[in-house]
Amino acid sequence: MKVTGKTDVYGIIGFPLHHSLSPLMQNAALEAAGINGIYVPFQVAPESLADAVRGLKVLGVKGFNVTIPHKESIVPLLDEIAPSARLAGAVNTVCLHAGKFVGHNTDGTGLVASLRQEFSLQLTGASVLLLGAGGAARGAVMALAAAGIARLRIANRSKHKADMIVEESRGHFPQLDCEAWSLDEMVVTPLLGEFNCCINTTSVGMSGDAFDPALVAALPADAVVYDMVYAPPMTPLLHLAAARGLRVANGLGMLAAQGEEGFRLWTGCTPSAGLMKRTLQEAINPAPA
Ligand code: ATR
Repeated sequence: MKVTGKTDVYGIIGFPLHHSLSPLMQNAALEAAGINGIYVPFQVAPESLADAVRGLKVLGVKGFNVTIPHKESIVPLLDEIAPSARLAGAVNTVCLHAGKFVGHNTDGTGLVASLRQEFSLQLTGASVLLLGAGGAARGAVMALAAAGIARLRIANRSKHKADMIVEESRGHFPQLDCEAWSLDEMVVTPLLGEFNCCINTTSVGMSGDAFDPALVAALPADAVVYDMVYAPPMTPLLHLAAARGLRVANGLGMLAAQGEEGFRLWTGCTPSAGLMKRTLQEAINPAPA
């Protein structure tokens, strides 16, 4: 790909950014689609966020992703907030539209798309157990509720944070049967056997830590277990669930799906099917030379 005077610039802002896999998969998709565009990392320290947003607009950047720690703090700095981001309370994708920066959230829809792809999961009427109550959980809750799940339990180490998300989701989705549990409460409830989709939205599993094994033991035999963590590719939660014969998937599909949705919003084109996920898999697990 040659950078010319007509090249459109896309990118990602976050701090730090050196670990980000988004440039790889977005540039692969731009190239495959024959779009004269480039996607670059912009490391932005928290105190420089407002300057960076103004700068990106002045420089005519057509769209960008937003990652940790800016997903929530960028909201008041944008011109418009799409319903997906308003519900999630966070922005991960910004589009330049008629001179305005519009904030979207494609994390939740990425999760829903990934659950459907990995497990052919029928979400309408499903009972979902969500682990965690941080920013990632909030986006997931709103997208799962919009996808029509019937029952949701949010289990978090600090129960009050799960209570807050339950409160919010009741305001937006009054038909959803939604309650909060503490992690300790969760593992002793006899109701766990009724949840056939379990999703980890926390960082637990990234560095050897693990949930109580009683969780996996109590899930029904047809349960699917999804972990937003993708490094390592198999967390202790996924190992245990796979050993029990449950279907499992990590968050690589979600990372690819949120990127595909962003690409569509920016370019109006659908990226080549499966390309982003393959690019991620190759980056994480390169084929032997
Ligand atoms: P994100 O925006 O990525 O969701 P976050 O807002 O910092 O990040 O939320 C992190 C989530 O992981 C929280 O649900 C947190 O639980 P607490 O609310 O109790 O802090 C959860 N988490 C992180 N480390 C954990 C651990 N060792 N055990 C259990 N939960 C953990």
